[in-house]
Amino acid sequence: MSFEQMWRDLAPVGRSSTSGGYFRQPFETAEREAAAWFLEQCRARDLEVSCDEVGNLVGWWRPDPDVTGPGVLTGSHLDSVLDGGAYDGPLGVVSALAAIDLLRERGFTPAKPIGVSVFVEEEGSRFGLACLGSRLLTGATTLDRAKELRDRDGVFLLDAMDAAGVRSSPDVTSVAWPDLREQVDCFVELHVEQGRDLVDRGVPVGVASMIWPHGRYRFDFTGEANHAGTTRMEDRHDPMLTYAMTALAANKQARLSGSRATFGRVDVQPNGTNAVPSRVTAWMDARAESSQALEAMLADITRLAGERAERDGTGLTVNAESVSAVVDFDRDLAERIAAQPGAAAWPIIPTMAGHDAGILSQAGIPTAMLFVRNPTGVSHSPDEFAEMADCLRGVEALADTLEKLAR
Ligand code: GLV
Ligand code: MN
Ligand code: MN
Repeated sequence: MSFEQMWRDLAPVGRSSTSGGYFRQPFETAEREAAAWFLEQCRARDLEVSCDEVGNLVGWWRPDPDVTGPGVLTGSHLDSVLDGGAYDGPLGVVSALAAIDLLRERGFTPAKPIGVSVFVEEEGSRFGLACLGSRLLTGATTLDRAKELRDRDGVFLLDAMDAAGVRSSPDVTSVAWPDLREQVDCFVELHVEQGRDLVDRGVPVGVASMIWPHGRYRFDFTGEANHAGTTRMEDRHDPMLTYAMTALAANKQARLSGSRATFGRVDVQPNGTNAVPSRVTAWMDARAESSQALEAMLADITRLAGERAERDGTGLTVNAESVSAVVDFDRDLAERIAAQPGAAAWPIIPTMAGHDAGILSQAGIPTAMLFVRNPTGVSHSPDEFAEMADCLRGVEALADTLEKLAR
């Protein structure tokens, strides 16, 4: 089946009829439908599917039973952020399947198995911890810790997995780390670019050099609920004000240090129009070029927030929900992949976005990423886009890469 056909088949799954964006939260109906679609694609290609106990899937192409591991793994994720784009995740999965088809068309027989992976909850959109599937798979997070995670409705992770049936999937063989570690030689994730680097360079494909360190922090601001009409302005202890100043301070500190800081999620209690709130909980996503820069920015923002809390007579606590260190991808592997006989090498560029590739790299697996140009750079939004011609160029680049690695 062609790339275009797979893309068309997957396009309606979880798409909002109002915004056109995607809601594929892990272990919910749309994401499960996408996972079922993937299993069907594996069956159609005679890929041997394995599933671990949290629902990470791998479809292995073994051209011959004698071709055993360790193999080359490629793939991405099928979950989305809330109201996300079509490309972040699915592009890597569909491209991996299309690359296998292309290699078969070329008559290429790999000397090692090639696996197509789908990791669960890459975005952390439901349980708050980004790359949860690959973290659990590699032991970067333990199941004991993950057991405590709940979604916004209070549903525990394992209950959500059980309700979706991922821990008792039929017709899949179970695989767990370190078994998979022994089966994997290297990992390559193809992804839509989430910035404008390739557009500015005028090239359709790039290779990743590194991922910026990244943290997610929960800020709890507490105050005193009171009447919006009768409480004099000077008598208030309003956590919304402390939060508002903190969001402005985060933006300013990020600008000053050339980093990123975003408050994209806020929960207000009791959330009434005519009451001073009792509590504001806000989540900050922060990223910087180095861990020191990230920590320094967090310290500045926390200090400014604390000073404002004192003036407002409000309370403040800050908790890190997840922190990821810098990822430096294997340089030799990146250069090998970037090289194109008879043409200029693909550029090797950094990214500020998190990926399962970062987790596998930290787990000691030689890892690389291919990026496909995004004309506007917009991502985590319904407007995320890549031209079909660039997607097909990405498939070719991935097929070339798999040929180099599985020869
Ligand atoms: C995932 O895409 C992230 O960078 O948050
Ligand atoms: Mn994403
Ligand atoms: Mn992604």
